[in-house]
Amino acid sequence: MKDVLDYIEKNKQAFVDELVALLRFPSVSADSAYNEGIAACAEHVRAKLVSIGLSAEVVETAGHPIVYGEWSNPANSRTLLIYGHYDVQPVDPLELWDHPPFEPHIDGETIYARGAADDKGQFLIHLLAVEAFLKTGGNLPVNVKVVIEGEEETAADNLEGFIKQNRERLKADGVVVSDTAMFDHGVPAITYGLRGIAAAEISLSGPGRDLHSGSFGGGIANPATEMARIAAALHDEDYHIAIDGFYDDVEPVADWERDAFGVLKFDEGDYLKKTGAIALQGEAGYTTFERVWARPTCEVNGIYGGYAGGGGKTIVPAKAGCKVTMRLVPNQDPEDILRKFESFVLKTASPAVTVEVVSQGGAKPAIVSRDSFLMAAGTAALERGFGREPVYMREGGSIPIVNVFKEELGLDTLLLGFAQHDDNIHSPNEKFSLADFHRGIVTVAHFFDEVGRPG
Ligand code: BES
Ligand code: MN
Ligand code: MN
Repeated sequence: MKDVLDYIEKNKQAFVDELVALLRFPSVSADSAYNEGIAACAEHVRAKLVSIGLSAEVVETAGHPIVYGEWSNPANSRTLLIYGHYDVQPVDPLELWDHPPFEPHIDGETIYARGAADDKGQFLIHLLAVEAFLKTGGNLPVNVKVVIEGEEETAADNLEGFIKQNRERLKADGVVVSDTAMFDHGVPAITYGLRGIAAAEISLSGPGRDLHSGSFGGGIANPATEMARIAAALHDEDYHIAIDGFYDDVEPVADWERDAFGVLKFDEGDYLKKTGAIALQGEAGYTTFERVWARPTCEVNGIYGGYAGGGGKTIVPAKAGCKVTMRLVPNQDPEDILRKFESFVLKTASPAVTVEVVSQGGAKPAIVSRDSFLMAAGTAALERGFGREPVYMREGGSIPIVNVFKEELGLDTLLLGFAQHDDNIHSPNEKFSLADFHRGIVTVAHFFDEVGRPG
C-alpha cells in the first residue's frame, strides 16, 4: 500500500488536472443539443480506462453510450463492479453561474463546474485509485468491471437493457458507487438506502383558445385554477399524500431506525441556511431525516398555464399543466404509484376540463444490506481515508440502477459518497471539495485493499 499511497500523494495536482479535463465536456444527457459533448465525454472516459491498463469499449445504446471496462488477475478472489455516470444535469439558469459551467474554476480547495460532484468528480476517484495500483505494482488486489453510463440523469432504461443482456459478463461480488454525499463536512457516510421515483405530467385543456376573462370568465372552467386545485389536493393539511392507496405498500420506519436517525445531529438553522428556506415543513409526525430518507413524497416540480409575462392580461387560458415527481420508499412500486396518481388526478379534476396524465417512468427504491463484506471494507477504508468512522444514513435522492443491480445481478451496492449536501448538485455553481476528492482516492485505494484481502 505504501507505493500506492505515495503515488496518490505525488499525483495530487495531476489528478486535479484530470478532473478539470473531464469537467470540460458538456455532457448534458437531457438535451439532444449536447449529443456531441456526450459522445466526446464517453470516448474520453474509455481512453482513460485504456491508459490505466483496462480493456475498455464504448457501448452504443438506443440512447447515450455506456463506457465499459475491465481488468482481472486470476489470482484475485473478488470482483467489484464500479458504477458511475458521466452525464450531467442541464445548466440553466445559466445567468446564476459565477463561472461558465463547463470551464472549471478552482477557488482554494473547491472546484466549480457542472458535474463536479454529480458524478464526474466522484467516479473519477475510482479510476484514479485503480490507476494508483496498476501504475505502481502493476497489480490490483481485486478484479474490476467498470460501468460508466450516460443516462443516469434522464431515467432512461437503456442501461437496464445492457445489464439484462450481459449478466455473465457483469458477474461480480458486489457493486461500489460514489454518487451520494457525506453526512457533513469532515463526516464520512455510508448510505444504505435510496428513494425511488415516479414521474408524471398533467395537462389540462379548457376553452379552445385563450378567452377574454370579462366576457367569458365565470361561465366556463379556468384550466389554471383547476390545475392549482389538483396540485393543492395532492396533500392534506398534515402534508400526508391524499392519493388513494399511496401508502398501501410503504414499509413503516422501524423503531431501531428512528432511534438511529435520532442520534444523528440535525441542526435546523444550518439546514435552513443550506436550503435558503425560512422554515421546516413536512409530513406531520416525522422528523426531517425521516421525511427525507424514509417517507415518500409528492412534489410539484413546475406548474404552468396562461399568461405569466410582464404586466397583466385578462384571459381565461386555454391550457395549464404541471410536472410531478414522487419519491418512493420500500416497498412502493413506481408503476403501481403512477396508476394511483392518474386515478386520483382524473377523479379530482373538474369535469369541465379535459385532463391528460402522462407517465414519465420511474425507478424502484433501494435498501442495501448493512451486513456485507462491502460495508465492512467500506467502513475500514473510510476510517483510513478520513480518520473517523462513518455515519450510516439513507438518502432522499435516487440512483435508478442500484435496484436493478440487486434484481438482475443479485448484487448489493456500497454507496460510498464523497460529495456534500451543499455542493449545489443540479443547481447553479455546482462544486466539489478537492480535499475530499483526494481523501476519496485514498479511501477507495484502501477499499480495494480491504476487499482483496483473503478471508
Ligand atoms: N447523484 C444523484 C442522486 C443523489 C442526489 C444522491 C442527492 C445523493 C444526494 C443522481 O445523479 C440523481 O440526481 N438522480 C436523479 C434520478 C432521476 C433523474 C431519475 C434524482 O434523484 O433526481
Ligand atoms: Mn449522480
Ligand atoms: Mn444527479
